[in-house]
Amino acid sequence: MTMEGKDMVQDVHISSRKDDHLRLAQQFYVHNVQALSNHDEIDAMQFVHQALPEMSRERVSASTSFAGISLPRPYFINAMTGGTELTNRVNYRLARVAHDTQSALALGSMSIAVKDPRTRDAYRQLRDDFPDVRFIANLGAEHTVESAQLVQEVIGAVALQIHLNAVQEIVMPEGEKDFTGWMNNIRAIVQESHVPVIVKEVGFGMSYETVQQLLNIGVHTVDIAGRGGTNFAQIENARNNKQDFNYMENWGLSTIRSLIEAVEARKNQGVDAHDVSIIASGGVRGPLDIVKYCALGADAVGLSGAFLQAITSSDDDNEAVESTIELIHDWDEHITNIMTILGVENLEQLRTQARYTLPESLISYRRQRAQ
Ligand code: FNR
Repeated sequence: MTMEGKDMVQDVHISSRKDDHLRLAQQFYVHNVQALSNHDEIDAMQFVHQALPEMSRERVSASTSFAGISLPRPYFINAMTGGTELTNRVNYRLARVAHDTQSALALGSMSIAVKDPRTRDAYRQLRDDFPDVRFIANLGAEHTVESAQLVQEVIGAVALQIHLNAVQEIVMPEGEKDFTGWMNNIRAIVQESHVPVIVKEVGFGMSYETVQQLLNIGVHTVDIAGRGGTNFAQIENARNNKQDFNYMENWGLSTIRSLIEAVEARKNQGVDAHDVSIIASGGVRGPLDIVKYCALGADAVGLSGAFLQAITSSDDDNEAVESTIELIHDWDEHITNIMTILGVENLEQLRTQARYTLPESLISYRRQRAQ
């Protein structure tokens, strides 16, 4: 086969893989977020109620910023998809939501735009149709500085996500099996990128050690993307109709455990800690989860699966977009309400003043990890 022919076959595989991921992620998500084992510790984290909040709802603002992006609310639409007809349509819907709600919108991996120049037009169209949307570009850590710059420019991104998906690659039969060189690639991309770089997991969490490694090579923003929602071991097993990697479906750090590790790593970074941002994501279900993760130290919260459910809830584009916008407005109200009764005016106060208790299992986990 000629090189061109081989590339073409690869492109067709990427396209159908992306459509499969979307379909299977959507199918499994609700079950995963309802599974108690994934959320027992975040549910057992309890705010201590204060009957004298001395706070007016009017005063509360949950605005935040990370990676140079200021947001009116502490959450955003995290990476999912793009590059095929079906997934471009989903991104188009999400861009309408982002436009109407001043949200940031992270796109799914844009490696297809690196490999196949024909796919770049759809991204450029999206950028031109939504000039005010803050897009975040996305690529895997195996990519070069040049590829990172290319995808950033194609979508006019205000930030760039580099994803770490070793588990997914191992489980995927056609996946990469050599993960050497990621650190060097990330270091180079951080040094050369024209926009802030966010390094993220894809649903298996980041440990204290991983966050420390990333901070040491100059990364300022990490998205821990823990276990509890979208699960790529499960998706790949289903896609390949194999159970080989069933045991991997419980692999990884839950979002709360990973967040605690990341916050600890930031704290121990010393003087540079103040310009490190931590994004919590992975199985985030709604306003109370968001407030809890921010109280634990997250600067923002990312949601993929939850927005995928909302944006695919109707065959009608307008209906799906409107109901997703409504969901965001609803959540904003709830977040403001929760912060009001906690007596905190902003995320900084939430982090430093809100009192909460953690379950014994988490305390014991922290103790073991501190040894
Ligand atoms: C993802 N995710 C993802 N992440 C990434 O960095 N690049 C990507 O291309 C994709 N692709 C992708 C496709 C689909 C359909 C979904 C649902 C998710 C992972 C995503 O950004 C996030 O880290 C995980 O999904 C965990 O968050 P949720 O879904 O549990 O909120």
